[in-house]
Amino acid sequence: MIIALGADHGGYALKEAVKAHLLRRGIEFIDFGSHSGDRCDYPDMALPVATAVVEGRCERGLLFCGTGIGISIAANKMPGVRAAVCSDSYSAKYTRLHNDANILCLGGRVVGEGLALDLVDLFLDTEFEGGRHADRIAKITNIEQAL
Ligand code: RB5
Repeated sequence: MIIALGADHGGYALKEAVKAHLLRRGIEFIDFGSHSGDRCDYPDMALPVATAVVEGRCERGLLFCGTGIGISIAANKMPGVRAAVCSDSYSAKYTRLHNDANILCLGGRVVGEGLALDLVDLFLDTEFEGGRHADRIAKITNIEQAL
């Protein structure tokens, strides 16, 4: 599994902590930046991560900004992206089981490092349940195609 990573300045430190965690776990990743903690605009990192996931170059994405919200809004503009902002374990697990979320968004000013790593593990290690949930994802795809 290859993971796409991206963050603005509000999420940069947490992205770096998650990178170290992925390295420890032996999980491959591509870091689309930012590559410093300097101020930048989160849509600029949402775009390459969303593109890599939708094109299949990366299986899942992890995005970080101050709240996780702005970067999730930006990523969700791309058809095929299902980006979920999570700050609790139940949501991180169920957004995989039920929503087949392909990008997890975390707020560097919201969640601490320990919780963030747990959320990342749940997100990466949980498979989509399919079944009735697949029918609902298909309806989301229909909405995208109606635009
Ligand atoms: C940057 O200050 C902050 O607005 C951004 O990281 C994010 O929280 C937006 O949703």
